[in-house]
Parts: sequence; structure tokens; C-alpha cells
Amino acid sequence: MEKLLNKEIQNYINANLDADLHSLLLKKSPFDGVSMQEIVQQIKGRKVAEKKFPFLKKDNIIFPPNLNLEQASSEVTAAYKSEFLKGKNFLDLTCGFGIDAYFLSKNFDEIDLVEQNPDLIKIVEHNWNIHGRKANFHNLDLEDFLSQNKKHFDVIYLDPARRDQNLKKKFLLEDLSPNILEIQDQLLEIGDKVIIKLSPLIDISYLVSEVKHLSKIEIIAWRNDVKELVLTLEKNFISGNPLISCINLESQDSIFEFYFEDEKSIKADFGDIENYLYIPNNSVLKSGGFNSISKLFNLKKLHPNTHLYTSSQLLNNFAGRILKVKNIDPKKLIKNEKFNIISKNHPLTPDEIKKKYKIKDGGQDYLVFTQSQKAKLVLRSLD
Ligand SMILES: C[S@@+](CC[C@H](N)C(=O)[O-])C[C@H]1O[C@@H](n2cnc3c(N)ncnc32)[C@H](O)[C@@H]1O
Repeated sequence: MEKLLNKEIQNYINANLDADLHSLLLKKSPFDGVSMQEIVQQIKGRKVAEKKFPFLKKDNIIFPPNLNLEQASSEVTAAYKSEFLKGKNFLDLTCGFGIDAYFLSKNFDEIDLVEQNPDLIKIVEHNWNIHGRKANFHNLDLEDFLSQNKKHFDVIYLDPARRDQNLKKKFLLEDLSPNILEIQDQLLEIGDKVIIKLSPLIDISYLVSEVKHLSKIEIIAWRNDVKELVLTLEKNFISGNPLISCINLESQDSIFEFYFEDEKSIKADFGDIENYLYIPNNSVLKSGGFNSISKLFNLKKLHPNTHLYTSSQLLNNFAGRILKVKNIDPKKLIKNEKFNIISKNHPLTPDEIKKKYKIKDGGQDYLVFTQSQKAKLVLRSLD
């Protein structure tokens, strides 16, 4: 790592930020003891950082291999998670590239970071020094750290790694390193609050049944793309009924929250299409709060199997998209007219719809093919 900090090498990296990396890799490194692969990795890191971690746009920052860049949280989600966190002692047991830790620990007096990968923790220590941030850096397996530890922490953070990178679909907490089911009791003995980041693919009911003292699940989306589930475990919280909080960063959507158990007893009102159509954002869809959102916003649901809602009056602070609509006869559409086509609970796919009615994708207007409990609907957005 030290060699990469050589001024000439840093200048070379800066001068080649827009270079074609494949051709660069074929060249011989102009520097003794530093391979072209290492140099290209630094260029890749800087490019990833431009969007994912802009705070790392500083001289002499060192970047790890791609896997660690991919596993790291983005600055925007890390900064969101840091809100309201404050205290004396902060511990991150799965430091990785240290992006989460950097933001989450900002308002703590003493910070302990644990990472099993020796190269990675060295890089984190170096980068934190550049930012003038102090911490105790532990290159240890977290089980060893926990067995030696005598401190108490206000907040313990974990962002477990997947054991198998190919597990794309459903996966279980046992598939993660560490397995939080094995250590959750131990963590709550030494920490007041435990915060755990998980993939959005994990099922929420499964988490509620397996994780103890679970007080909150945050579903964090960025521009309507669900990025993370964030669990909060609190020692004094009785299990079973966490607050579910749906957040869509970089949007005007309000935060939508409900208690897990309440969803089961709330009944949604159903109704036929009125003036406005409401399409919940993806964090709400992930949450399963389909009855709660109808009750909270006083909206009628169109159909038990479709999570679309309606009202006669406009309601502005909905956690999702709102369209002013009218029900139309699709046969009267003009040939080649452009629409954003949505098909939900309707027999035709968007492609089949385009073919059948000779319309095209795009433009500003929406066409929603769906059904209420009474009838098939084709809704065209107005304005
Ligand atoms: C998903 S990454 C964390 C990324 C981090 N939150 C960030 O924003 O950069 C998980 C990290 O946990 C580390 N890890 C997994 N199991 C561990 C264990 N038993 N002990 C210590 N570190 C572990 C991995 O080496 C990996 O770097």
C-alpha cells in the first residue's frame, strides 16, 4: 500500500482516470514494485467513489479490491443511518471498507473497528487518518474480539457478508458471516443498541420470528430502489412487534411507518377507481403494509391482489407516485401514441399491450392496466 502513495504513482493514477482500463492493463507498469493491476484497481476505486462515496475524493486515498467496494454501503445510505446516533462508545464488528462506520460513528467519543481482512483494515486506517478520524483498529475475527472484550458500547453495528456470493434469491441469516442468530444474545449483553444491515431480499416475517429484541426494521430505498434493511435490536424491547419504517431517499416521499402486528388486524377499504391513483413506492411494497397504508392515508384499495389505491381528493404526502387518472377505452388510443405502461393484476404484459393497441413506450403519460373488484380498468394519466 505504501508504494502506491508515491507522488509519481498518484500523479499517474490521476492522469489516467479517463483512460481505457483494458488497454492500460496490457501496458507494462512504469513503476518498479507496483503492478499495472494495482494501479488500475486504484483508478477503478476512484471512479466508483465519484458516485458511491464522494467524500473519498481526496488526495492519497487508497481503494481496496472490487469485492470490498461492492460490499461497502453508499455514502448516502450510511449518512442516513447515522442520523440520531450519538453516544460514548461505538463498535463496528464488520468494518469492511469502513464507509458505514465512518458516518455512523461521527457522534461518538470512542470508536472500535473490527475486520478480519488484514489488508482491508490497513487501508481503512490509512484513509481515516487522511480524514483526521481516530479509532481503535482491530485486525481480528469478531468472535476473538468479543471473547477478549471488556467494554460496553452504546451502539454495535454489523453489516454481515454473504458466505456465498452466488446466493441471489432467498437466503437465511445462517448464510451470513457472522450468523447473527448465534451471537445476538452476546451482543445485547455488551451493547445497548445493535444495528444490523441486511440485504432487501430477506423476508420480513422471517426476521420478526427469528431476531430477538427487534424494535425496528427500516427499509431504505434510494430513488425507489430498495437498497438495505436495517434492524435495530434493543435490550429492553420485548420481541414480536417492531416498527416498520419505509424510507425513499432522494425523493419527496414521506416516511411511512406502521407496527408489524397492526397490519394483521387492520382492514383496507376497497373501492372502484376515483380521480386519483396511488402507486406505493418499492420500500412500501417490501414492507407488506398494504392495509396500514390504506388506513393511514385514508385511501381505497382497488383489489385484494393489487397494491394500487384510489381517492377522489388529492392527497399530497403519499409514500409513492400519484396519478390523476380517467378510465378509458384502449381501443380509442391513437396509433403510435407513447405511454409508460404499467400492468398489474391484468392478463396482458406491457409488451402484449403495446402490440394489441399499437402504442409505444415512452413519453410523459401513463397507462395503467389493472382491475378493481368490479371491473377491468385501463387508466390514463391526465395533465
Ligand atoms: C459487507 S462488508 C462490510 C462493509 C461495510 N459496512 C462498509 O460500509 O464498508 C462485511 C465485512 O465483514 C467482514 N467479516 C465477516 N465475517 C467476519 C468475522 N467473523 N470477523 C471479522 N470480520 C468479518 C468481512 O471481511 C467484510 O469485510
